[in-house]
Amino acid sequence: MKRLLAAVVAVCAVLLAGAGARDMPAWATDPAVPGPTLPPVGRSLFDFVAADGVPFPFEALVRKVEADAGCAPGECVKAVLIPLGRSLQRTAAAPDFFAFPRVVVAVTGEGGGPMLARDRLYLGYQEKANLVEVISYNEAAARFEFQLVRDYRAGGTPRVVYANRDVCTACHQNHAPIFSRPVWDETNANPKIAARLSAARKDFYGIPVHRGVDIPNAIDDATDRANRIGATQRIWREACDAACRPVALTAALQYRLSGERGFEAPTLAGRLARGFAVRWPWGLAIPNPDIPNRDPLAFVPDTTGVAQSHVAAGLEPLAPRAPLELWTADDPLLVRRFVIGLAELIAETDVRELDAALTRRVAAARRRSFIAACTVSGTRYDCAGEVMLSGSATTVDAVSFGGEPLGHYALENGVITSQGRRARTASGDSIERLTVRRAGGKGEATVTVVEDFAPARAAIANVAWPDAPFSRVRMRAVLGLDRRGTCCEDPAGLGAPQSDIEPPPLPAPAAEFQRYCAACHRTPEGFPPNFLAGDAQRVRASLAQCAPRIFVRLTMWQMPPAARDKVPMPPPLASRGGSPWAQSAPDPAIALLQSTVAGWLRAETGRIPDAAEMLARGYENLRPCLPAGA
Ligand code: HEC
Ligand code: HEC
Repeated sequence: MKRLLAAVVAVCAVLLAGAGARDMPAWATDPAVPGPTLPPVGRSLFDFVAADGVPFPFEALVRKVEADAGCAPGECVKAVLIPLGRSLQRTAAAPDFFAFPRVVVAVTGEGGGPMLARDRLYLGYQEKANLVEVISYNEAAARFEFQLVRDYRAGGTPRVVYANRDVCTACHQNHAPIFSRPVWDETNANPKIAARLSAARKDFYGIPVHRGVDIPNAIDDATDRANRIGATQRIWREACDAACRPVALTAALQYRLSGERGFEAPTLAGRLARGFAVRWPWGLAIPNPDIPNRDPLAFVPDTTGVAQSHVAAGLEPLAPRAPLELWTADDPLLVRRFVIGLAELIAETDVRELDAALTRRVAAARRRSFIAACTVSGTRYDCAGEVMLSGSATTVDAVSFGGEPLGHYALENGVITSQGRRARTASGDSIERLTVRRAGGKGEATVTVVEDFAPARAAIANVAWPDAPFSRVRMRAVLGLDRRGTCCEDPAGLGAPQSDIEPPPLPAPAAEFQRYCAACHRTPEGFPPNFLAGDAQRVRASLAQCAPRIFVRLTMWQMPPAARDKVPMPPPLASRGGSPWAQSAPDPAIALLQSTVAGWLRAETGRIPDAAEMLARGYENLRPCLPAGA
């Protein structure tokens, strides 16, 4: 259905000159348009990791990811254990949830490269399902790819496939990773969860059980940054035109070189606001990567087995999420958001190498001295003049060359540094020297700035930045940095990408469900229950078995959202015409499906089914959706 909707949306978008729905903001990434399963160009970072096979066991796979990212073991990854969660693996370990928790691994730090995996590579592993879920970035297509590693077990033959994006984006509505809000009660940072895990088993793939909230917090931060990539890339391509792009990139580099202290882009605000207002007159809606916190142990005490994995509708990641923020052309924060977003697409290694390259040419650069009169007391000085300055013998607390004050540099023997590099100002230029000559309580400060950023600025301005995703590879080439310093835009050498097989059309009576349900319920996986998979006999048996649950889930549409036990099926859409929306009424055809299923139940029990009555004993007490052993 989503694919059909995608087609309709595409047509509407053309009719509306690409401006999204009338009078409505546009989603930065549209939850109703998952995009093609296989990458349109380029490949996922994980494909490069898996190019020579997917190592088993899981610890070995994590080590491989670390090695490819240029990280020492444990240096750049964070891992949590989630025994009772809300992912597609939520039921797989039943009833041994605590012996076989799901593992989520995120690359949250940057290694020595050349693969930039920070914020861009995530694994979800469930031993009982022999399955690894993967979300990783595709640099060339500027989108996250959703993949599965099947048959991931001792003695197995791991097979990497691109997953059905219709299924994944039902919860990953932002086309990117999602994560719980604090305090991450589903993870082992919750002492009650950690205690049960410790009681169940000793080793979980080398991941320590008793750890604090700093770990899920780091993953949450990474998913938040990952969520911004889509918005930044859209602005780069669609609101920041060919004249705007070099200015924006210059500002992003200034921001990084200055140690994230500032940037100087006086013409950017106007250019960006104009482009933005034309493209998104009602604003750009930033999707929400956060789902509510959930206490997974809140079930009724004598609940056992798979019923413990029950997720109430209000906490279900399938429910449409409203935008996190709305960015508009007249928002004074827009420029800053965009520049910071672009700066996050640049690796620390890029910044380090650029700094070194600029410093090598420092002799040829113009120098400027700024003089200020100071009051001095002990080792402290406060100066005002061509430069504003305050600090001590070992730190510069604030320095300003007319713009925003920049703060917190280290000072040693007149040399100002930041993060171990020569200090740079918001203009990208380096501060060569600071001297304070004193005479009693007075003094004079001289700050020497070398305009060594000029070659980078010129290089960026001298090339055309085409209407294509922002590319680190291209940026490095333009800046004259070593070509071997990047990876993963050129898929040569990788085998052909595999997608999950599209099965043939369904036989009657299941055909009626094809359009609305098959995208998610006709996969090789047992969750969500694949009641439409297999041959005609299996489908018939599954539909009969699942009928009570199907009936209840279809009936959920008739209840107001707050009163629902479970999310209705198919899940309500979060988008219409590319704009935020929470679908409240089902497609009219759903009533027909409901009466079909009601007919089956009536034939089985002799009574007209009543959803309220069926739910009175608890949803989890309805018979399981799939036949035993399926
Ligand atoms: C029913 C909702 C749901 C669907 C559908 C879903 N996921 Fe997720 N996924 C989650 C939730 C919730 C999390 C975060 C918490 C967790 O992992 O338990 C998550 C986390 C992940 C992670 C870890 C990184 C992150 O986002 O935090 C990966 C990798 C992942 N999912 C892959 C996939 C793939 C691939 C698909 C499609 C085959 C998919 N997911 C479909 C709910 C879902
Ligand atoms: C976009 C993906 C998607 C579509 C389309 C979809 N579902 Fe689902 N469905 C899910 C996911 C994910 C779950 C598991 C989470 C949950 O139970 O809420 C689920 C759960 C269910 C369940 C509960 C299974 C159980 O064991 O309790 C039923 C029944 C169901 N779906 C029926 C349907 C029917 C019928 C349709 C078509 C009318 C449909 N679904 C369309 C994704 C989808």
